[in-house]
Amino acid sequence: MALTEWVNVAKVGDLKENDMMMVTAESEEILLALVEGKYYAIDNWCTHAGGMLDQGILHVENLEVECPLHEGYFHLDTGTARMPPAEDDALAYSVKIIGDDISVGPKES
Ligand code: FES
Repeated sequence: MALTEWVNVAKVGDLKENDMMMVTAESEEILLALVEGKYYAIDNWCTHAGGMLDQGILHVENLEVECPLHEGYFHLDTGTARMPPAEDDALAYSVKIIGDDISVGPKES
């Protein structure tokens, strides 16, 4: 489900460069990634069969996360499914930093 408002999910420094972690917001489990100084957020559950993307592999060169179960790929910025068997896109969120707080919210178009 899409978030309805901005939610603080982490502090700057909780996540190392080129790494990812699961956070929760409005009971949604969200993958938060930091790649080359920019934060990205998509749903943490793979649309194929529910693999937990935070347990997968971050491919920084293509801005993608690889699902740990069947190696489906998702784009971190758009949530687009990039590699079968993942076919349905993951929901993507916007991320903003205010002070030391990292917040996720509805994706801005
Ligand atoms: S559960 Fe993610 S590719 Fe199958």
